[in-house]
Amino acid sequence: MRSQVVIIGGGPSGLLLGHLLHRRGIDTVVLERRTRAHVLSRIRAGILEQGLVKLMREAGLSARLEREAITHDGTCIASDGEEFRIDFKALTGVPVVVYGQTEVTRDLYDAREAADAPIHFEVEDVEILDVEGTRPHVTFRQGETQHRIDCDFVAGCDGFHGVSRQTIPVARRREFEKVYPFGWLGVLSETPPIHHELIYANSPRGFALCSMRNAALSRYYIQCPLSDTPDDWPDQMFWGELRRRLPAEHAETLVIGPSVEKSIAPLRSFVCEPMRWGRLFLCGDAAHIVPPTGAKGLNTAASDVHYLYHALMEHYEDGEDAGLDAYSERALARVWKAERFSWWMTNMLHRFPEQTGFDLRIQRAELAFLRDNSDAQAAMAQNYVGLPY
Ligand code: APR
Ligand code: PHB
Repeated sequence: MRSQVVIIGGGPSGLLLGHLLHRRGIDTVVLERRTRAHVLSRIRAGILEQGLVKLMREAGLSARLEREAITHDGTCIASDGEEFRIDFKALTGVPVVVYGQTEVTRDLYDAREAADAPIHFEVEDVEILDVEGTRPHVTFRQGETQHRIDCDFVAGCDGFHGVSRQTIPVARRREFEKVYPFGWLGVLSETPPIHHELIYANSPRGFALCSMRNAALSRYYIQCPLSDTPDDWPDQMFWGELRRRLPAEHAETLVIGPSVEKSIAPLRSFVCEPMRWGRLFLCGDAAHIVPPTGAKGLNTAASDVHYLYHALMEHYEDGEDAGLDAYSERALARVWKAERFSWWMTNMLHRFPEQTGFDLRIQRAELAFLRDNSDAQAAMAQNYVGLPY
């Protein structure tokens, strides 16, 4: 087999890149380790920056999103039982969009299938070879059959646990990591959201987040010890703890119901440099991870895809490789800003096991400065709605 671009990973990064390239006549093959059903079963965040909305529009895939998504002009920050609002629309001129990132992935799968573009599921033993040489190719096994695909480029969109990043020689990779000493327990419930916008809460008992998917589907999170499992949190215990972490007027209006999904995710900041190795280009979680506090995971993968898509099109249509040569530096510049913002939100809103009295006063001052200073709010709003690509 031969293809112009082999995409490792059928998550949102790989599918979005694949669809954008396919629409411009570039041959792509997507190799996905799991089944479509498994990929779509992954619960993901629900906030889209305008940049991602524009990319979905550019891919011709924004119809359902524009029909079903909710627009939020701001968000609420609660601490010490009080709350204040950050008005994104007033401060930046743009809102954010609430639309399950799983739905983005679903729309992308539907598009790939409708285009009859090649995707191989349940692939194994993927190897990325000769990306520094003259014959880049990928080998993989499907069942008992071994395959080889010769290509021009490989897009490593295979997430944090994929093979792409490992293809860059360890001596040439620089990896930066910060692991947070807690996780997020997330619950999805078929209940009306507690508020018309998101509420990020810093309480003495720990962080809580009230989000949503639509008017009848709510998504809640509470900070929990890394040693916990979902079985440690029966629904009633979860609802009681969530209530204790919210301002009274919200705790009183919380509508509870059976969880339809319950999971715990660890929090990590991670960046791999460079994001390019010869003809291999890393996108999304293959290269970087953020704590979910700033909802930057998919939104930062989207800017990687934007840069790589345009760089590849300049190569194929104009014979220009400046975009490809600048890809890693350009993508990393925005990645690190997303890492900073996600780290800042996480430090401001969570209670850390080793926090001293001084640390708590600093955290309280950070929140008070954000509450009282319009420039601080503007800076947060610009990061939250999405820095320019
Ligand atoms: N071969 C083929 N596929 C692989 C391999 C492999 N060796 N290893 C992993 N994969 C697949 C995974 O099964 C997964 O479907 O690659 C895909 C990677 O998808 P994600 O982990 O979702 O990463 P990405 O597409 O970059 O998504 C970025 O989207 O919703 C957000 O929070 C999410 O931050 C994440 C972001
Ligand atoms: C979500 O709705 O899942 C969500 C929203 C905002 C975040 C993280 C997760 O910061």
